[in-house]
Amino acid sequence: MIITVDGPAAAGKGTLSQKLADKYGLAYFDTGMVYRAVGLMMLKQTLELSDACAAQKMAGELTFATMMELSRDKDFRSSIGGQAASIVSSYSGVRAQLLDMQRNFAKNPTFADGSPANGVIYDGRDTGTVICPHADVKFFITASSEVRAKRRYDEFLQKGMNVLFDDVLRDVKARDERDANRKDAPMKPAEDAIILDTSDLNIDEVFQKAVAFIEERLK
Ligand code: C5P
Repeated sequence: MIITVDGPAAAGKGTLSQKLADKYGLAYFDTGMVYRAVGLMMLKQTLELSDACAAQKMAGELTFATMMELSRDKDFRSSIGGQAASIVSSYSGVRAQLLDMQRNFAKNPTFADGSPANGVIYDGRDTGTVICPHADVKFFITASSEVRAKRRYDEFLQKGMNVLFDDVLRDVKARDERDANRKDAPMKPAEDAIILDTSDLNIDEVFQKAVAFIEERLK
């Protein structure tokens, strides 16, 4: 079984994907990792992030094993890593190079320990539209910009970071605006996606709704 979970930042894609992966014995592919890995390769080799050709070359050299190794680096999940990922992910040559690596994972999905999985759950903005248009179940998880900004703001506070809610909200809205206008990775639901608005739902409610849709689809 292949499931895709698309949607804007802080809508709850990762949490839902991990819970569904556990329930159905699926390998979880967080596709943001491929861009974080390429961004980090650029930084480590002191290449300019504005060099789209170099980024494309790095993307062509990336293997799954290298990505897993890089994911243990302290900068992989940091804001430096996130920013680098965001820049390299905007190059269409980079996206094209990383397409097969993401798609091929579904041919023989395995867990981190190498044992076989029942399928894959892909998490990422273009997984239902570009990476896996033939997925069995596609979700598009969304929430109002205010709710997503509040979730991000709470995460920052938990990490002890000093931020203003209005600044976080402004960032979320600016990112939505940029995302909506990207041609190669559009922030829009696939035509056959199930749209889940999580604004007024907690994670368990979102999970229960998603499970109900999957069970219906599996009948
Ligand atoms: O989700 P995460 O924050 O790890 O994503 C890192 C960067 O990669 C983000 O800027 C995001 O927009 C980009 N990305 C993308 N396509 C995906 C997944 C992530 O362009 N399928």
